[in-house]
Amino acid sequence: MHDILIIGEGGRESALGLKFKQSPQVGTVYVAPGNPGMRRLGLETVPLGIDDFPRLIQFAQAHGVALTFVGPEVPLAAGIVDAFQAAGQVIFGPTQAAAQLEASKAFAKAFMHRHGLPTANSRTVHSLAAGQQVLADSGVPLVFKADGLAAGKGVVVALTHTDAEAALAHLYAADSQAPVVIEEYLQGQEASVLALYHNGTYVTLPLAQDHKRRFDNDAGPNTGGMGAISPAPQFSADEKEAARTLVARTISGMVSDGLGGCGVLYIGLMFTAAGPKILEYNLRFGDPETQVLMPQIQNDFYAVITDLLKDHPAPLQLDGQTYVAVVAAHPAYPAGPMSALPLAEIPAAWPTGRWLPAGVSEENGQLYSHGGRVFAVIGQGADLPMAQADAYRLMAAVQGPLAIRHDIGAKAVVTR
Ligand code: AMP
Ligand code: GLY
Repeated sequence: MHDILIIGEGGRESALGLKFKQSPQVGTVYVAPGNPGMRRLGLETVPLGIDDFPRLIQFAQAHGVALTFVGPEVPLAAGIVDAFQAAGQVIFGPTQAAAQLEASKAFAKAFMHRHGLPTANSRTVHSLAAGQQVLADSGVPLVFKADGLAAGKGVVVALTHTDAEAALAHLYAADSQAPVVIEEYLQGQEASVLALYHNGTYVTLPLAQDHKRRFDNDAGPNTGGMGAISPAPQFSADEKEAARTLVARTISGMVSDGLGGCGVLYIGLMFTAAGPKILEYNLRFGDPETQVLMPQIQNDFYAVITDLLKDHPAPLQLDGQTYVAVVAAHPAYPAGPMSALPLAEIPAAWPTGRWLPAGVSEENGQLYSHGGRVFAVIGQGADLPMAQADAYRLMAAVQGPLAIRHDIGAKAVVTR
């Protein structure tokens, strides 16, 4: 049996942990730091921080961990993969160099332009005056992106001149020489395509669609993601094929730039009238996309990873079902402050995997909310409307005082 260590603590890591746990070759699945809700899924939480590389490596060595899998972007950008590899530990994730495709928007745009990949036209500026000049030359709408990791909060879509001025003032408030990407505003539906890669070899997953805004009908502030669907039935076979081509071209660009290795490639796409364009790269699984991707996979997930690392990827076996994740969030999310709220107990009759904990704490056997996104419920069905109905039926049983969006998947049904 092989023991696994997952780095992270959210709903994404709950979904990954369960998928590894289903492998007949996997013994214990450790999650560092995890959350107390994960213990109800049979995962072992380890009280180590995601940035404490020396102690994480020590833990992996002391417990004979066969494979470490990294969830979030921050340790990747800080070089966790390089550190584990230097210590001789097997780890699945991009090197620090490859993680720059996510950690630096300017680096990612330069990569896309260099490889002729379709993306919004853009300029990178390094001063307020240069930014104002771009605004004067091109007018609104424009999109402004802070260069570094910003947990989804570094992007402003400015539809008016006033919003554009305010965005620039905000982006240059702390650092007068900050690199800022200014790009063309793209219109269309967003979706993501993800792939597991090892150098030039890869396995592509079905399209997924996140719901980033806090409120129904895509109103309100951006969040980490309030729900997701996969597959996304509103896209045509041609559109799906175009997305897969962008995976192939990105991975071949990474290899030719010396950014190989292994990991997850997540391409955020805008399906415009002129075909899909790349909004962003992430070098990790998405949250909550992972919660709707993992249950589709019928393969032994440990074998998916180890076969890929041997450059003999097995074809993915998908269950043909549609999944809908609805996230239950603290009512004050994302603004805060977020007090601890008592959570409903999960009905014992639910099959494992229908409830995936994220911002959860536990005291004397009672679960409490701990942070913004608290848990997700996962609906399953033969098609999207059935999966939606299933998800909302489950949520009604456990929502308690938490807030949800009521329209996860609605766009996909309407425009089908
Ligand atoms: P990013 O972190 O680059 O994916 O940007 C966050 C969100 O901002 C995306 O999910 C889109 O909703 C929006 N966005 C980013 N770039 C553009 C663009 N060029 N045109 C329109 N919307 C965009
Ligand atoms: N759900 C979007 C992300 O994980 O980046």
